[in-house]
Amino acid sequence: MRSPRDVLYMSIITSFFIYLLYSRWNVSTSIIQPDVPNKGPHGKHAFRQRLIAVGDLHGDISNTKKVLQMTKLINAKSDWTGGQDILVQTGDIVDRGANALDIYKLMSKLRSQSTDHGGKVISILGNHEFMNAIGDWRYVTEDDIRVFGGTKRRQEALAKDGWLGAEWLANYSITASVPLSPFPRSPKLSFTHGSLRPSYEDLLPYPSKINEIGKSLLEKALTPPLAPPFPPYPYSGLPEGHTYEEAELYSEGGPLWWRGLAEREDENEVCQWADDLKNRLGVRRIIGGHTPNFEQIVSRCNGSIIIIDTGISSAYGGVLSAMEIIYTLTPLKDKNNNGHDRQEPFLIRSPASSDPDSANVQIREKGDMEGTEQEISTEKGLKGRYIEREEVHAIYERRSTLIAVEERELML
Ligand SMILES: *[C@@H]1O[C@H](CO)[C@@H](O)[C@H](O)[C@H]1NC(C)=O
Ligand SMILES: *[C@@H]1O[C@H](CO)[C@@H](O)[C@H](O)[C@H]1NC(C)=O
Repeated sequence: MRSPRDVLYMSIITSFFIYLLYSRWNVSTSIIQPDVPNKGPHGKHAFRQRLIAVGDLHGDISNTKKVLQMTKLINAKSDWTGGQDILVQTGDIVDRGANALDIYKLMSKLRSQSTDHGGKVISILGNHEFMNAIGDWRYVTEDDIRVFGGTKRRQEALAKDGWLGAEWLANYSITASVPLSPFPRSPKLSFTHGSLRPSYEDLLPYPSKINEIGKSLLEKALTPPLAPPFPPYPYSGLPEGHTYEEAELYSEGGPLWWRGLAEREDENEVCQWADDLKNRLGVRRIIGGHTPNFEQIVSRCNGSIIIIDTGISSAYGGVLSAMEIIYTLTPLKDKNNNGHDRQEPFLIRSPASSDPDSANVQIREKGDMEGTEQEISTEKGLKGRYIEREEVHAIYERRSTLIAVEERELML
């Protein structure tokens, strides 16, 4: 016969093991739990930013939603649940599949919903967006044209005063340099659909030069009358009046089409390119889509280059994937405890109130999750020494893998 006390001890021990199991399991899965705000004190963190990047989607709305749900950016109703997270989509939403229109509408909705929560949607143009703009409709499916309401309607939507053309011009760019925090010396990440070629003439100033050229070319292409679609009409090429720089941008060696960082086999050469690009562009990583690997996100040169196209669209049938970055700043308290707070991010997800050190964080929350705006304005007051940690993961439907971890001490 067991006494009640034995039973109590047994259950305490059992709970402890369940907790251990749970926290092990949590290492690989809880990084995608969205129920904590990014900024403000979370346990020992003074600042936290999550970023999700998604590659080529090619007209597959259903897999697009699966990926955004899998990364907890949207709920079953496709509303933004990512709070202050950043979503970057690296282009090629259109062609091959039937439902590009729905994906563009979803992105537009999420852009405005995320803004309301202090989050952000960053959209990059792919070579297929540009093909559609200049009338190269070789990969446009009949279903896609039908969904838009026919060829004429589709051209009207694409024109610069149509809903999609205007959206591309206002809210999409060829390349982006995305800082992971608003603080000085924040690492930045570069996102482009294809590969940036080190010898490409218009890299600098980055990213403004490339984006100016891209916008100017796009505007010419989308100014009515639009080029008649090829096929059935002949290919009409770049719009009349395009410049040399614009032709270079759209060329095989330009940022929309080049595949060098993904395809060049010589690892030494690629890593030299990566170092050169990182220095000149002032970024920590160069991330692109365009060249699919159907099994996994590909990291090269120790995470300096990350290719995130896994052929998500059922037109390809590759794995559903996303790249995730968790960026945190943790105050260094004093020299006695050796400063380093080496807790894994999942541990800080326990309620802040149960964490005796949470009083040490520099920013105080005003209200709770809704206090975002004020927090951002007080972030300027974030002074002191911090451990900056950036974790890069590849997320798939049933697992996630670690691509890189970068940690350094930072004085703010
Ligand atoms: C660009 O995005 C903003 C923010 O969601 C939105 O208000 C605006 O209407 C968009 N621009 C166009 C031209 O669609
Ligand atoms: C790879 O990057 C990590 C930081 O993410 C760094 O600590 C390590 O030294 C790098 N390895 C090589 C071989 O460069």
